[in-house]
Amino acid sequence: MSEESSGETGELILSVRNLSITRSGEDVLEDISIDIRRGEFVGLVGPNGSGKTTLILAILGLLKPQKGDVLVFGHEPASRKNLGMVGWVPQAATQLPNNIHITVRELIKLGSLNQDNYLWGFLSQEKMERIETALEMVGLTDIGDVDVSRLSGGQLQRAVIGRALASESEFILLDEPLVGVDRASRNSLLKLLDDLCHNHGKTIVMVSHDLAAVTQATHRIVYLEGGIQYDGPTEGLPDLSALANLRGIENVHSENSLLKISRNLVEKGGE
Ligand SMILES: Nc1ncnc2c1ncn2[C@@H]1O[C@H](COP(=O)(O)OP(=O)(O)OP(=O)(O)O)[C@@H](O)[C@H]1O
Ligand SMILES: [Mg+2]
Repeated sequence: MSEESSGETGELILSVRNLSITRSGEDVLEDISIDIRRGEFVGLVGPNGSGKTTLILAILGLLKPQKGDVLVFGHEPASRKNLGMVGWVPQAATQLPNNIHITVRELIKLGSLNQDNYLWGFLSQEKMERIETALEMVGLTDIGDVDVSRLSGGQLQRAVIGRALASESEFILLDEPLVGVDRASRNSLLKLLDDLCHNHGKTIVMVSHDLAAVTQATHRIVYLEGGIQYDGPTEGLPDLSALANLRGIENVHSENSLLKISRNLVEKGGE
């Protein structure tokens, strides 16, 4: 969707330097370095278990690195200096318990709860306006009062993205936001993310197994497996059959369908 390059001059939003993370005795990330600048829309891909979610959790400050540094807006992750500036849409965020009855607006409101307003139980006029803006940005104003249990997969994904936007986050991390979303809603979600980047100055990292979607929407791809196997412009991603070979996957078809290969990546990665 974008013709823009990553732009070496933009404000540095994320800086990861020589990051290594061990979880339960397993080396999950080893010596990862990556810089992301304002306005970038980066696709993070790799097989199951390659450490995509681990990297996101380290950026959020929920996992501490054994080695290396992570700086978000120039500060330690989760420091007071970047409070509310990072939005997270967790993997499986739409799998809400089905005995929870809240409206779309209430779900989005949850994103703006923080220490300042939690104790007092009410939201300032400014925060209420932010919630309405977030609803509008994700295109759900008309169904703000509908119970979330009645939403389609695509609408629910929009709602959880809206929740991440309600705090006015500048940097949005989405972990598999396209799972369970049909083709039409997927396209409209990708358009929404593109709009957030280009018209609202947001910086986005999207983890996805859907290579077709990642290739369509992002302008930069980071391919993670062990270390970073590729980090560069989306259009420069090595020939997908080479990528499949890298994974030890047989070339599926001469027409080389992106979807088939991405499905293979998922299946083989899950072994
Ligand atoms: N306590 C733990 N919690 C989660 N994962 C752990 C833990 N300890 C070790 N791991 C390992 O960390 C590795 C990376 O997991 P992670 O969830 O980051 O991968 P991923 O790339 O997000 O995978 P997926 O595509 O399935 O979401 C996996 O091999 C997992 O087994
Ligand atoms: Mg994951």
